Amino acid sequence: MLERLETIEAEGTAAVNGAGSAAELENLRVKFLGRKAELTGILRGIADLEPAERGPVGGAANKVRKGLEALVESRIESLAGAELEASLASDRIDVTLPGSPVRAVGHLHPITRTRRLIEDVMIGLGYQVMEGPEVEHDFYNFTALNHPADHPARMLQDTFYIESGAGAPEEAGPRDVLLRTHTSPMQVRAMETTPPPLFMIVPGKTYRRDSDATHSPMFHQVEGLAVAEGITLADLKGTLLAMLREIFGPDREIRMRPHFFPFTEPSVEFDVSCFKCRGSGKVEGEDRCNLCKGIGWIELGGAGMVDPNVFGFVREAGYDPDLVTGFAFGFGIERIAMLRHGVGDLRLFFDNDVRLLEQFS
Ligand code: PHE
Repeated sequence: MLERLETIEAEGTAAVNGAGSAAELENLRVKFLGRKAELTGILRGIADLEPAERGPVGGAANKVRKGLEALVESRIESLAGAELEASLASDRIDVTLPGSPVRAVGHLHPITRTRRLIEDVMIGLGYQVMEGPEVEHDFYNFTALNHPADHPARMLQDTFYIESGAGAPEEAGPRDVLLRTHTSPMQVRAMETTPPPLFMIVPGKTYRRDSDATHSPMFHQVEGLAVAEGITLADLKGTLLAMLREIFGPDREIRMRPHFFPFTEPSVEFDVSCFKCRGSGKVEGEDRCNLCKGIGWIELGGAGMVDPNVFGFVREAGYDPDLVTGFAFGFGIERIAMLRHGVGDLRLFFDNDVRLLEQFS
């Protein structure tokens, strides 16, 4: 019997050591240690043995069982570890690789990028960025900006009016609410809520009844307003120069031409020197510079010193026309983007043909 146990131990040890997988080991465990295994039978039969044999056989059988059990356990552990390693190695994926097929990455619209560029420049000059309603009251769009009652911009053919619907005040006529024709109404709104000194810009959508290669019924403007004690036209010129040099290059110059706006006095239009012909109007191989049409200057927007009458509407908010002065300017974002990217037709920005938009990634 003891010899038989030695054989079982030797066979079992060899088999377990030779097993190549966790499944194979499980089968060997059943074979050598399971309920029907020979060893189990021997252990069960100990009570039937001669009393003198019980001790040595029982001790040896238990030793063989414990030994095999421990061996199986340790082999399972090392095999499971090795199997895990192997499956990890074969299943390995590089999660940093792009998906397949590679997805096109989107990017910001050129108008958004131009707007953000302007914002960055003006924030750098200490201005805050404000936003205002696109659906505006006649009061902010025209009246508080000193537009006379018969100003052409107030005519139905120039401006989109909103019919006042339910809930509108009784006295509100059909023309009291409109789509803002410029970002200038925010001059008044900003001054109503923020005491001087005030340095702010307003980027946003504006609306006019125009539609051609350089005009769209919806377009974008940036308004600028600076109000404090002692602000002069020279500050306006320096600010525009600093801003336009950031946008169009450090060699640019600006000029201001007399103009008229109801809400600024004096009023100007401002131009930047052409960055294609460097202000000369001439380009090799062309009759004249086709960007500035040979003029050397590119028209950008309107500006001026805030009219004291406008301050009169916000006097209560701290804007005493005898104490503070200020300048305001406004220009179109599309125009800047067209010039920077050489886009000839403003409407292309809103057709949203990806073949065009992809060129600005
Ligand atoms: N709001 C004017 C326009 O749209 C531009 C402007 C802004 C002029 C501020 C003067 C001062 O034409």
